[in-house]
Amino acid sequence: MHILFAASEVAPYAKTGGLADVASALPKALQKLGERVTVIMPRYDSIHVGEVVCQYLPVPFGYGHKPIRIFREEMGTVPIYWIDAPEYFHRGKDIYGHSDDPERFAFFCRALLETAKWLGVPPDVIHLNDWMTGLIPVYLRTVYSYDPFFADTSTLLSIHNMAFHGYFDPRQLPYFGLSPDLYTSDGGLEFRGTASMLKGGLVAADALSTVSRRYAQEIQTSEFGFKMEGLLKARRHDLIGILNGVDYEIWNPASDHYIAAHFTPEDLSGKRTCKADLLSRFHLPQELDRPIIAVVSRISDQKGFDLIQEISGRLLQAGAFFILLGSGDARYENFFQRLRDAAPHRVGVYFGFNNEMAHRIEAGADIFLMPSLFEPCGLNQIYSLKYGTVPIVRATGGLDDTIQEFDRITRNGNGFKFIPYKSNKLLEKIYEALILYQDRELWQVIMKNGMQADHSWDVSAKKYLDVYRALQNR
Ligand code: ADP
Ligand code: GLC
Repeated sequence: MHILFAASEVAPYAKTGGLADVASALPKALQKLGERVTVIMPRYDSIHVGEVVCQYLPVPFGYGHKPIRIFREEMGTVPIYWIDAPEYFHRGKDIYGHSDDPERFAFFCRALLETAKWLGVPPDVIHLNDWMTGLIPVYLRTVYSYDPFFADTSTLLSIHNMAFHGYFDPRQLPYFGLSPDLYTSDGGLEFRGTASMLKGGLVAADALSTVSRRYAQEIQTSEFGFKMEGLLKARRHDLIGILNGVDYEIWNPASDHYIAAHFTPEDLSGKRTCKADLLSRFHLPQELDRPIIAVVSRISDQKGFDLIQEISGRLLQAGAFFILLGSGDARYENFFQRLRDAAPHRVGVYFGFNNEMAHRIEAGADIFLMPSLFEPCGLNQIYSLKYGTVPIVRATGGLDDTIQEFDRITRNGNGFKFIPYKSNKLLEKIYEALILYQDRELWQVIMKNGMQADHSWDVSAKKYLDVYRALQNR
C-alpha cells in the first residue's frame, strides 16, 4: 500500500507541538510494517537540508498558476518531500500565526496533490492532519474527481486538536480554485457564518480519526466539540480514536544523547545525575532530595496554566522546586517570570522552544504537571512515564487514557489524576504526590510502573493500517 502522509510540521525539521512528533514517528512505524510511505510538508525557510528534485512545477492557484520547487531527503528510511514556495512558507521563525494562513495552507493542499502526481505513484491513502490539510479531500472530490490518478485514493483525516478551525473568508474560494457552491452549511464548508478548512476535511474525508479513544468520545459533546459536535456525531461510525505512541529512538533515557547520564528501570542512578544537571542549568541549589515539579508545554489556556498559576505559591510552600519550559501566552509568561524573580532559589523558567532542554527536564524532574482543560492525546505525560517522571494530570482525553491513578495497596498505577477542572483538586494531587515522594521505596514502584510500560508506536501503527485497509476495501 502507498500511504502519503500530509503534515504542516514534522520533527525535527519544524515543530511547534506534538503533531510534529507524530508526523515523524508514525510514518517510520508504518514503514516498519512493510508499507510504502511518503511524507510531504511545506518547506519553511528554517529548513536547510535536502536536495532539489524538481526545479519547476506549476500549481493551479490564484489567478493562474504558482510555481513550486520540490526538495527531498530520507528521513531515516522514509522519503520526505518539501514543497518550496517562498511567497507562502518563508516567514521567519513562526510557521503559523500569519494573517494569510488559510491561503498558505490551501495552497499547500493543492500543491501537495500536484506533487503527488509529479511523484507518479498513486497513493492508496492520503493521511491528513488537522485543518492545514483539510482542503485536500475537498479538492479530491471536486477538481480531481475525474482524475484517474486519484481514482483509488482514499483519505483519512486525523484530528489532533478541535480548537483550531482554519477559518477563511468564503469569498476566497474561487482564488483557491474551488466553487463558491461549496459554501453551504449542510455538507459544505460553511461554519457559523464563515468558512472552515477543518470542516471541509471533516465532511469530505473518507474516514476520521483522533489521537485517543477518550477524545474521540469527548468531541461528540458540546463541552469539547467546539460547535462541531453535531457533525462529528453524525460521522461517528467513520470516527476512531487511536492513541499516539512514542518514538523510543528519540525519547528513551537509556540512549537519549541530550541528557547528562543514562538510566533504566533496573539502574536508576543516572536519574540523580540528570537531576543535578537540571538544577545547575536553571541555577538552582543542588538540593537533590527536594522534589522537582516540572512543566514543558505550549503556554496556553488549553494546558491548564490558570490552575498552575493559582496554586504556584502553595506548591513552593510545600517544599518543591518548580521548573517551567514553554512559550506562548504573555500573561502567563509574565506571571511565571515574576514568580521566578520572587523565589530564584526555587523556581526556574525558560521561555522559548528548546528541544534539548525538554529532554533534560524529562530526565531530571521528579514530577510532571499536565492539568489540561482538554487534551486530545498529550505526549509529554507519555515521555514522562518513560523517564520515571511521575505525571499529575487532569482526567481528560489522552491524559485519561494513559495515566492510571496510583494505588498504595495494590501498587498499581503510574501517576495521579483529578477530574474537576479546579485548582484545589490539582493541589490535592500535588500534595499526595509529595507525600508519596517521601516514601522512597513506593516512589520507585510508581516510577518503574511508568518506565516499564510499552507506549511504542507498534500497536497504534497497526490500528492505522487496519483503517487504511478498510478504506481500500470500501
Ligand atoms: P501539544 O501538541 O498540544 O503542544 P503534546 O504533549 O502532544 O502537546 O506535544 C508537545 C510536544 O512539544 C512535546 O514533544 C514537547 O516536548 C514539545 N514542547 C512543547 N513546548 C516546548 C518547548 N518550549 N520547548 C521544547 N519542546 C517543547
Ligand atoms: C495536539 C494536541 C495534543 C496531541 C498532539 C499530537 O497538538 O494538543 O494533545 O498529543 O496534537 O497528536
